[in-house]
Amino acid sequence: MSKLFPALYDIAMKPLEKTRFEKVRANLVRKAQGRVLEIGFGTGANFPYYRDVERVDAIEPNPEMSKHAAKRIKKAHVPIYTYEAEAEELPFEKNSFDTIVATLVFCTIPYPIKALEEIKRASKPGGKVLFFEHVKVDQEAIGKTQEVLTPVWKKLCDGCHLDRDTLELVKRSGLKVEKVTSYYGGLFLTIECRNPE
Ligand SMILES: C[S@@+](CC[C@H](N)C(=O)[O-])C[C@H]1O[C@@H](n2cnc3c(N)ncnc32)[C@H](O)[C@@H]1O
Repeated sequence: MSKLFPALYDIAMKPLEKTRFEKVRANLVRKAQGRVLEIGFGTGANFPYYRDVERVDAIEPNPEMSKHAAKRIKKAHVPIYTYEAEAEELPFEKNSFDTIVATLVFCTIPYPIKALEEIKRASKPGGKVLFFEHVKVDQEAIGKTQEVLTPVWKKLCDGCHLDRDTLELVKRSGLKVEKVTSYYGGLFLTIECRNPE
């Protein structure tokens, strides 16, 4: 397991603090309510932004990432319980969560369709599912460039796919997409959904 990406992640994200990027993240996370599940919490970048929630259960498969989250867990405004687990096999009963949050993670999950099935299973009927993801841009030349760069990018960035069409995968999963907002020319999207079942 590479230690370089986890060690550099917070350093690379630091310049984004106080920028529009961080505001998008914070505003989305603040929409979480009730019992919350976070998918692939990494170094816990979202943890400071949870406010009016009952508790957060947060999964992350890579201990090299999660070890950097300790400070943010301590400082969080809400109780945070962490688990070493993968999105494709969530260690929770069905209909457990009022809100499920995934940020910058669907680019990396190896089996995103399975992960979305698990999210639907773990979400309560009518529960919110909130994504903030970078995606394949809906413009031919840029999309093609993302496809070409992905094999190298995956090696450098711990399995991250630049060319993942997460919105399409979410639509096909059966989650009800309620709002999509595009940032940075469509490179980043927030996708706000409900579990209809
Ligand atoms: C780019 S980081 C994002 C971390 C954090 N969500 C954020 O917004 O800063 C991607 C994370 O997805 C995690 N990940 C990779 N495969 C996963 C899987 N199958 N299930 C859940 N998380 C996974 C990685 O270990 C990593 O921590």
